Amino acid sequence: MNTTVPSAGLEVSGLSRRFGGVYANRDISFSVAPGELRGVIGPNGAGKSTLFGLISGHLRPQEGTIRLDGERIDRLPAHRRARRGIAIVFQGARLFPSMTVCENVAVGAHARTGAGAVEAALRLPRHRREETEIMADARAALERVGLADWADRGAEQLPLGQQRRLQVARALTARPKVLLLDEPASGLRADEREDLRALLRELHADGITILLVEHDVAMVTALADRIAVLDLGRLIADGTPDEIRRDPAVIAAYLGSETAA
Ligand SMILES: Nc1ncnc2c1ncn2[C@@H]1O[C@H](COP(=O)(O)OP(=O)(O)O)[C@@H](O)[C@H]1O
Ligand SMILES: [Mg+2]
Repeated sequence: MNTTVPSAGLEVSGLSRRFGGVYANRDISFSVAPGELRGVIGPNGAGKSTLFGLISGHLRPQEGTIRLDGERIDRLPAHRRARRGIAIVFQGARLFPSMTVCENVAVGAHARTGAGAVEAALRLPRHRREETEIMADARAALERVGLADWADRGAEQLPLGQQRRLQVARALTARPKVLLLDEPASGLRADEREDLRALLRELHADGITILLVEHDVAMVTALADRIAVLDLGRLIADGTPDEIRRDPAVIAAYLGSETAA
């Protein structure tokens, strides 16, 4: 699949989100350059998934702005941000176990084209054409992540490492400019992590802007151009992997947490 897309830059400014009285994100500002692979790390509960929800539009900020290629997107609903090129793989995203691998990927493409249930039921020509295109897109995305041979198997047969690749394939059907991946390597074996890391390197080389939340700090430091570090909802550090490794605030946050992520 040709995943070469015009890269997009993202800018988050003064972003805050409270749940009840508790700030999950507090006054967060950082930028993501077009084509950058941006790591986001921090202990459990730091606010990483909240930040992703705010960017994808599944959550609304109480304060702050988000710009994609200079244009504000923070008031747009999630599906319109998706159309602008923002795709997200949620933390712990599930498959539909009774569907094939290819059908699981096609679910993402259906959401994008908005092929309606009425058209589907009536088998209108537009629907049939879209259906063919969607399945072709799904297969191309599976090819891109190295899962072409699995396309027609039941999704429940997929080992966890391949399931994560499937989730990436589903996101790629939208031809995203910005891809948000929330802990894609969690629970994977060392060899599966290595495969995922190679895939992310390829997508990065294709020019997709990637935001990666990952528990595996070694993986993030190996892949990321720059890393944002959150702790208790605040951005406590922002810099290259080398800068982050040496940052006293980062070291303190991780030492002070039993469940460093
Ligand atoms: N929907 C929600 N309702 C209430 N509190 C939430 C909700 N989502 C997240 N939080 C709280 O916000 C904080 C940050 O959570 P989260 O963004 O999931 O952190 P992380 O992904 O870094 O582990 C946590 O204290 C969490 O309990
Ligand atoms: Mg999380």
